[in-house]
Amino acid sequence: MQILHTIDALRAALPGAGRCAFVPTMGNLHEGHLSLVRQARTHGLPVVVSIFVNRLQFAPHEDFDTYPRTLARDADLLRSAGANIVFAPDEAELYPQPQTFKVQPDPALADILEGHFRPGFFTGVCTVVMKLFQCVQPQVAVFGKKDYQQLMVIRQMVRQFALPITVEGADTTRADDGLALSSRNGYLSEAERQQAIALSQALRFIADRVRLDPSSLAQAESEATDELRAKGWAPDYLTVRRRTDLLPPAADDLASPLVVLGAARLGTTRLIDNLEF
Ligand code: PAF
Repeated sequence: MQILHTIDALRAALPGAGRCAFVPTMGNLHEGHLSLVRQARTHGLPVVVSIFVNRLQFAPHEDFDTYPRTLARDADLLRSAGANIVFAPDEAELYPQPQTFKVQPDPALADILEGHFRPGFFTGVCTVVMKLFQCVQPQVAVFGKKDYQQLMVIRQMVRQFALPITVEGADTTRADDGLALSSRNGYLSEAERQQAIALSQALRFIADRVRLDPSSLAQAESEATDELRAKGWAPDYLTVRRRTDLLPPAADDLASPLVVLGAARLGTTRLIDNLEF
């Protein structure tokens, strides 16, 4: 496995445009990331993994400075997962000048949910992913479904810019108790970690209630939100949406495939999760 830090070295090592599978990450890897690498490997192409903590997608009050940088450990994990190339540029390499050209996603999709609570987040994500796509030129790119809205925004970007890349979603990897794996789980205290499962339980509660009685949607959302709050969480949203566009379902959408998405803060840690149903 090669570990490369410059775009020139990456381009020299790649087998040519459209001849690799790609997994973009911000490092501090866990089993969820490794499952993306394993999915990428099923294409029989060399697998490139990028590790880059992208300043553009963090608001000034967020955890950019403290986000764990664990390259040596990440490289060991990626080697054993069968990645071929790790692309780990520093900021000066990927952003040699302030990145004033940006990819501005459709506000209808990108300014709701995560984008509402983290303004500019998806512009930062799209800009870096577009740039990484230009560097890597993959045939396939794999993104986790845990970042459900991110996956949809990237799919739309790829479609609208006619990029010759197949975007694949990979199922969320969960701990034994059901907590979605996330690099930010590492911020939780032991007591918070015990409590963290309450978010996915709240989503399950809403999904089960809505499937049983679609007319109870608003009540299920607000009961689950109140219950999380009573347990000491600060929920941003717990909401059922259409899978096609992440808008609230109309009455006649309620029998079609839906997704319930949630974001809530436990102490200082903000967790997100979702469940298709
Ligand atoms: O999901 C992530 O880890 C990041 O948003 C991504 C896609 C690597 C872009 O920085």
